[in-house]
Amino acid sequence: MKTVSLTIDGKEITTYKGEKILWAALDNGIYIPNLCAMRDNAEPEAACRLCFVEIEGKAEPVTACTEEVAEGMVVNTRGEKAVSLVRAGFELLMASHALDCAHCPANGDCELQKIAKHLKASLKTKRFRLLLRELPVDDSNPLFTYDPNKCVLCGRCVRVCRQHKETAILGFAHRGFDRVMTTFGDEPIGSERCLECGECIKVCPTGALSFKDKSKLKG
Ligand code: SF4
Ligand code: SF4
Ligand code: FES
Repeated sequence: MKTVSLTIDGKEITTYKGEKILWAALDNGIYIPNLCAMRDNAEPEAACRLCFVEIEGKAEPVTACTEEVAEGMVVNTRGEKAVSLVRAGFELLMASHALDCAHCPANGDCELQKIAKHLKASLKTKRFRLLLRELPVDDSNPLFTYDPNKCVLCGRCVRVCRQHKETAILGFAHRGFDRVMTTFGDEPIGSERCLECGECIKVCPTGALSFKDKSKLKG
């Protein structure tokens, strides 16, 4: 396998040709905010727009989950332009988020909390007006609970569910502000077709999908 050497935030890194900047950084202890990326996904959806970084020689920031490393590349995760895009995206996301960490199953193991800490930002946005969706919590599945008010529409659960092909039940419905992760036909998530494999809960970066049995917690 061919290797590539590059610099991220001043740190020299060697990784393999074809690797995305996001994974090269994370594997080397450099955190880049991310919600939608999955390592085994060769064609990332780049849906969350939180992984912006700057590359020397490029005028605009790029998403680290889609950009491949290159020999001699110089990446800056802390550039002003990139950070400002990430902050704006994060605050916009939090403007429709039912924030209640103290009562949330993901508290302490939540990617949103990690991103806020990384950005030295509050989970409560001040820039945008709060616009909550106030959707009903779906408790119909014996294994897990789905709270769409904590969903960030990252698509990770949909992707792992689709690996079951003919038995996949998760998908997205509606557009814009009304976009929601749901089941085909908008049936309760406790549908008989759910295999109860638990994979969707393990990949969910927030408290939107959570095991009822706390001994099966993520991690
Ligand atoms: S999903 Fe994360 S940020 Fe949202 S309430 Fe739960 S712990 Fe807090
Ligand atoms: S339920 Fe979780 S994994 Fe699924 S789209 Fe929402 S935040 Fe992402
Ligand atoms: S992790 Fe890159 S856009 Fe979501």
